[in-house]
Parts: sequence; structure tokens; C-alpha cells
Amino acid sequence: MSDSSTTNEKYAPSAEFAAQANATADLYTEADADRLAFWDKQARRLTWDQEWSEVLDWSQAPVSKWFVGGKLNVAANCLDRHVDEGNGDRVAVHWIGEPKSDARDITYSELLADVSRAANYLSSLGLVAGDRVAIYMPMIPEAYIAMLACARLGLTHSVVFAGFSSAALRSRVDDAEAKVVITSDGQFRRGKPAPLKAAVDEALGSDLPNVDGPAASVHKVLVVRRTGIDVDWDAERDVWWDEVVPEQPDTHTPESFDAEHPLFLLYTSGTTGKPKGIVHSSGGYLVQASYTHYNVFDLKPESDVYWCTADIGWVTGHTYGVYGPLSNGSTCVVYEGTPNSPDEHRHFEIIEDKKVSIYYSAPTLVRTFMKWGHEIPAAHDLSSIRVLGSVGEPINPEAWRWYRDNIGGGKAPIVDTWWQTETGAIMVSPLPGVTETKPGSAMRPLPGISMDVVDNDGETVASEEQGLLVGTEPWPAMLRGIWGDMDRYRDTYWSHFAEQGYYFAGDGAKWDSDGALWVLGRVDDVMNISGHRISTSEVESALVGHEAVAEAAVVGASDEQTGQAIVAYVILREHHIGSGDELVDALKAAVSKEISPIAKPRDITVVPELPKTRSGKIMRRLLRDLAEGREVGDTSTLSDPSIMEALQKK
Ligand code: WT7
Repeated sequence: MSDSSTTNEKYAPSAEFAAQANATADLYTEADADRLAFWDKQARRLTWDQEWSEVLDWSQAPVSKWFVGGKLNVAANCLDRHVDEGNGDRVAVHWIGEPKSDARDITYSELLADVSRAANYLSSLGLVAGDRVAIYMPMIPEAYIAMLACARLGLTHSVVFAGFSSAALRSRVDDAEAKVVITSDGQFRRGKPAPLKAAVDEALGSDLPNVDGPAASVHKVLVVRRTGIDVDWDAERDVWWDEVVPEQPDTHTPESFDAEHPLFLLYTSGTTGKPKGIVHSSGGYLVQASYTHYNVFDLKPESDVYWCTADIGWVTGHTYGVYGPLSNGSTCVVYEGTPNSPDEHRHFEIIEDKKVSIYYSAPTLVRTFMKWGHEIPAAHDLSSIRVLGSVGEPINPEAWRWYRDNIGGGKAPIVDTWWQTETGAIMVSPLPGVTETKPGSAMRPLPGISMDVVDNDGETVASEEQGLLVGTEPWPAMLRGIWGDMDRYRDTYWSHFAEQGYYFAGDGAKWDSDGALWVLGRVDDVMNISGHRISTSEVESALVGHEAVAEAAVVGASDEQTGQAIVAYVILREHHIGSGDELVDALKAAVSKEISPIAKPRDITVVPELPKTRSGKIMRRLLRDLAEGREVGDTSTLSDPSIMEALQKK
């Protein structure tokens, strides 16, 4: 994805925008003068019940402690504080259901009451701070309520994207030893109710491959009635939300938790098949979430309507769907459905109807809008839009311009925000009103954030040269580890530049001659499909899990729509006959079921052999050349160079 051939096109902020912007260039000066004093000041954006004694303790590196000894309640910072300040009647969430008739505005006072009821119910189950709760839900108000109720009680939530399979849910539930699963009977998808609880039943039972009996840790499943479809019921284990939560008292006194208390786990793909449970803190996380949300999106809580289109199943949905915006008292749009239900106008209708002023989305969606045609946004009054955001993958300059011209009225600043599940919050981004932007570049690390592009020895690369993106100093929202596997944490992120103590992000990048940062895509075996991370080995093991497949190799090939697309090469087992479309479809379905429809390969080719080095390592580079229709690179290290010729003929 490097059609980022460093355009030198620049977009300066308008004087009008700059005059009213939350951020000023002083933020950089302040942070550069004294980084920790800067974060100390940012932490005071929040309400703390106990002050910290030290901003950063890095003595146990690479595990950081921020705001040491400080105590706060994350949910109280997102709710009670705004109500106490007299803003209880402000809408927190404009919830918009998939069926057009379904919508509900929830004020801060109402959300606080809802969260209090849910918290009272969860604590009546005997759950205590530090217990894990899995949340497997569509984008309905109860999903937000469940997350905030957990936060309020210090229960560490683990949201699992509702598009993930039962097998994926099970492995996450087991890894975290979740005691409760919160879900819904079903969810609306393209006008129709689709089952969801059925996947939970399958996940928690004993019929999945690779499980040893029912999920041992789970003793309650709390089910929101969303679609009214039939569900199986386990009277011991299952309970309807509407039968137990509404009757609870609508007040709840929040307890204070240590700044380091684990707020949530979020599983993400690594370079091996097993997803990593990324652990996030409470204090440092919320400080950076709140600071970045306020400055990067220029949030004006009294007047803006903010819409982050990400699902809560992803980190964007956590930090910029829930915690960042609510900590800042924002009015948020939360939409349950897909952009084309019932038709391609839906997002633009919502923007027009709710007067959305800040819209944060992903390049893959922008490219989809481009394909649908500019007439569609043009049919709507989008003049409320004043800031546009992008996240998930590099945004190609063409999509960037289209976004600004067709959604942003030719003038809204675009903030291209680079960050990761692991970083917890935005790290690299322009500041609207301050930064002169270049289409396709995330521009520069935010004030308070230190990053660099280095070579394999950890030396800063010359401008225009490709290197590796690293974090050179700890930051407040950084992950605190991988759940249950601190060795993997050290190894994955800190072993590449152990000497320098740098965080290895896994992305290639370069600085241009103006000091702007260009992110050039992953350098490891992680693919980026529509902004979602999927590891090659995860898909390979799903394929090999099918009885027909002996061996599989998966690569990410560039794709106009999705950024990268999954291309698989498989060798069939000897006894297996038939290799036609039917088999390919069956394999695609198997991956979909094992992981998620997002992980379904675009192409699967049955091959007699895979290109391997003499030591038996699959040369994915050559397969990628093949998948992208390029001339195949150097094959001299293959154990049998004739294999590539045979594959090219296919
Ligand atoms: C990977 C992280 C953070 C929320 C969504 C994805 C890629 C993300 C950008 C951007 C270029 C980007 C990187 C990164 N990425 N944002 N603005 N420009 N690349 O979170 O699933 O943890 O994936 O997404 O490759 O490492 P994630």
C-alpha cells in the first residue's frame, strides 16, 4: 500500500478553523519541554479520587505504571462527572437501530441510570473487581451499558466482535476465564434478524473441535432481547436482561480503582495463530483517550455530534466509540447496521439527520463510497461536517481527496490517525487547525508521544528511506502486557530493539524530507483486511483444520477495495479427490466459520507443492508476487526452483 509516493500536495488549515481549534502548536512546545509534566497536566482533565505520587514508573520496563498510586473510576469519569456538572440532559448517545423505525436518544442522566442498574445486577452475581466478563453483542445501547457497568465495578471486560465465530469466542472466553458472557438473542443484519445467542451456546458447549467439555469458567449468560427470535435456553445459566436489570436500583456508588487496574482485554491477531489478549489500564488509558479525542477531533462537547463508525469489537470502538468521547461529554451517534442497509444512503442520511459534525471512519469504507458514486453523498446536506477522521490502514491519496471533497465539503480537515490495539489510543496524527496535512501521511507523533523510524540496528533512517516504526518512550495508554503471557509480550514488542528499549510496532514507515511520517504497512505476517488484523497463520490453521487440506500458505495481496485481500494456496491430502469450485467454496466457508467472514480468503488455489526454502520455510514473498500478478522474484533459495514455474502456469 505505498501509492504514497510522497505527494507534496499540502493542505494548510484555514484561518477560520485555526482560530477556534482546541489544539495549538504550543502543545508540542510544552510536551517537548517536559514530557512527564505535560502528561501530568493532561491527567488533570479527569476526575481522580486520589492523586498520583509519580507520573511514570518505568523501573519494571517494559511494563509501565502511569499516575502511580492515583485512583479513579472510569465510568464515573464518563458519566457521573457530566451529570454533576449540570450536563445530565445532554444526549450522550443518539442510538440508531438497523430497522429505520428504531432509534433512541439517551441522555447522560439516563445512561448513568442504565449503567447503575446493570452494575447493581452484575455485582448481585457476586462478581468482584478483576473478574473478567465477555461481551458479545451488536451495536445496541446495552453493549455500551455493559461495558460501562463493567468499568464501574472494576470488572475487566473482553469484548468479542459479534461477527466472530463461536470457536473464536470460546478461545477468548477460555483464555480470559470469563465468568459471565453478555450477549443478545440475535442481531439485525440487512433487514433480517440473525441469531447470536446460538453462537454463544455453541461456544460454551462441548461440541466444538479442540475443546475439552463445556466452558468451565462461565456461570451466567446475560441475554438482551433484541430481535425476538427463538433461542435455546439453559435455565441454570441463562438469564434475560429485561427480567433482571430494569428492576435494579438506578443509583450506584462507584468505587475507586488504582490507575493500573485492568480496564479491559482486547484480543488481536499476532504473527502466530493464537490471538493475544492485550491488557489495558484504567488511568493512563483514559488520560490518553480523553486528551487525544479532544485535540485530534477538536471536540466541542456542547455543539458537536460525533460519530465513530467502528464496532465496539475493535479497539477504535473502545477508545473512540466509548471511553474517549464519553469522558469528554460528547454527543455520539451509535449505529447498529451496515452502511448499505437498507441502501447506500444510510450513513449520509444519518449525518444529515443528526447533523454529524465529526465523522471518524476507515479508508476501506471511503473506497466503498467512491465505488458507489459521489451522487450518493451529493444527494444529502452534509454541511454539518467539520472534521473527518481515518484509521485502520494507510489512506491512499485518491481516497483522501475524495473524502475531503465529497464528505467534507472540500474543506474539512482530515485527521489520518495511526495507532494500534496495543497503543490503546492515537499516537500519530495531524492536529486540526495546526498541522498542514499531506494526503496519505499521518504526519507526526502527537505532543507527548515519541516515535521514530529506525533501521535494524535501531538507528534513525535518513528521510525518504524505509525503516521500522518504533515507540522510543513509554506512553500512558500503552498495553500493560498480554493476558497470561508476559514472555510473549516481551518477545513480540520489546526484543527487536532490546538494547535501545524501543517498542516495535510491526509497521514499515519512512520520514519524508518535511519530517512527515508515512506508514507503509506491516512488516510481519499480519495482514490488514479492511483495517482488520488477521494473521496468515490463523487462516492457515483454519484451512489445515479442514479434512481435505494437507498444507496451506496464505498471503495478503493488495486489493483495491479492502487494502489487502487473503489469497491462499493449498495442497490437498492424498486421498482427497476433487478440487473444483465446490471444494474451494467449502474451504472458504470453513475459514469463515472457524474465524470470521472477515477472514474468508478471496482466492484459494489448489497447488501440487508450495515454494519452500531448504530449511522448509514457506517463501511467502514469492506467493505474494504470484498473487499480485507480478514477476516472481529471486527463487534461488528455494529447495526446488521449478515449483514456482509450475505454480505460474496454474
Ligand atoms: C495496525 C493496527 C487502531 C485502530 C484500528 C486498527 C494499521 C492503523 C493506520 C493509519 C496506516 C494504520 C497499522 C497498525 N494502521 N491505522 N492511520 N495509517 N496504517 O487497529 O487492528 O490493532 O491494527 O493497523 O498496520 O499496525 P489494529
